[in-house]
Amino acid sequence: MASKSKTVYLCDECGYESPKWLGRCTSCGAWNTLRERKISVSPSGSSPERKLTSATDVVRLSKVTAGSEERISCKIGELDRVLGGGLVVGSLVLVGGDPGIGKSTLLLQTAQKMSEEADILYVSGEESEKQIKMRADRLDGDKCDIDLYCETDIDKILAAAEKVKPDVMIIDSIQTVYSEDISSVPGSITQVRECCMMLMKYAKQSGTAVFIVGHVTKEGTIAGPRILEHMVDCVLYFEGERHHSYRVLRAVKNRFGSTNEIGVFEMEGDGLHEVENPSSALLMGRPKDAPGSAVVCTVEGSRPILAEVQALASPAGYGNPRRMGTGIDYNRMTMLLAIAEKRLGLNLQNLDIYINAAGGLKITEPAADLAIITAVYSAVSGKPIPGDMAAIGETGLTGEIRNVNQTDKRISELAKMGFKRCIVPGGSKLEKKNGAELLFADNLADVIRLCFGGKKEGKA
Ligand code: TYD
Ligand code: MG
Repeated sequence: MASKSKTVYLCDECGYESPKWLGRCTSCGAWNTLRERKISVSPSGSSPERKLTSATDVVRLSKVTAGSEERISCKIGELDRVLGGGLVVGSLVLVGGDPGIGKSTLLLQTAQKMSEEADILYVSGEESEKQIKMRADRLDGDKCDIDLYCETDIDKILAAAEKVKPDVMIIDSIQTVYSEDISSVPGSITQVRECCMMLMKYAKQSGTAVFIVGHVTKEGTIAGPRILEHMVDCVLYFEGERHHSYRVLRAVKNRFGSTNEIGVFEMEGDGLHEVENPSSALLMGRPKDAPGSAVVCTVEGSRPILAEVQALASPAGYGNPRRMGTGIDYNRMTMLLAIAEKRLGLNLQNLDIYINAAGGLKITEPAADLAIITAVYSAVSGKPIPGDMAAIGETGLTGEIRNVNQTDKRISELAKMGFKRCIVPGGSKLEKKNGAELLFADNLADVIRLCFGGKKEGKA
């Protein structure tokens, strides 16, 4: 069928289509992101998408028999947890992340583990069979067997999938896949969107679960189109600091479960290893009785994680003293320093302050306020925080201590990791049942007294 082509301008950021060039995208407001593209239009003027919708039959909701979602285990506990308890049959899962963070490793490892019970088709547009074999040997070699296909043409991929009928298909990566019906280059928005659409149709019709790897652009969105995120059932981001071995798998969208869950992995010479107890891993090597070191307990999803936060105060040179935070929000940090100056009378004007969340963790919760303030106080005063003590709570601008959620869970985790005493907000209704002694504090002065000296006069 002969097809005509027309020129349109597509926004790289949001995929907005405009008939003429614009300096600024009217949809997302980004500057200089519209690019000229030739798209083919079939003579009848109907796009493939339009055909797809017209073919759908209308049904009454009450007539639909749902059944419970059928899930298969990925054999990797952390991945199952992030997916909400296993991989849903017929779902489309997008795994995004920076280059070299370990997406291909994670999915190949998953394929290997799952291959004992399921048929896997691993499609790679980035690596040759030999390269994949080398990586597979390095990971978990012998016992597993999966089908490999190094191809980038979506029609051939789908044809192969029809033939092999896998339970799980992995596409590494969506940016290399292209459809011949579309004139634009692989990786362009139209190509990526169209191929993703075809994969979604295939997944829903065949009941095959499909993993798609998506690269992330410099700006941190999955390359080109964010539209991909809207189309798929789950979006997982694989993130971590390149220089740390810990990797965190985070659900950003999940049609079948919560998006709060995270999975923690460690990258080693023989692939990714699950970290079942992140707290002990993150606290390992923590200096004992060193001033400036405090323990925070953050809750990620349903899971409390302990980490170390360190503060350093050193005499400032000329000009404004420096404030630097790694792994914590800069604005929150400066606010906490201001509160400490005002409410505790700390003199920080002539000190450079550095605060670091160890292990490459990002602390975003207000529940970490007390830990950060005690770390700073300890660094400035030179008095260490007792090794068996931790503090949980949010600080307000007047120095009052506010309640935080899931305090119970945090205290249990602290007790599990050997902490004997825990400073908690005075208003929290807790009983001494969690295994750690509770010290109630109403304001910052209480916290400092309980932590660094004076009488321990908790209510419990
Ligand atoms: P990879 O999965 O290729 O990243 P992505 O697909 O996200 O681009 O991971 C590549 C990095 O992982 C590479 O820098 C080396 C490291 N790596 C290990 O440390 N151990 C291993 O066993 C493997 C396979 C990779
Ligand atoms: Mg890769």
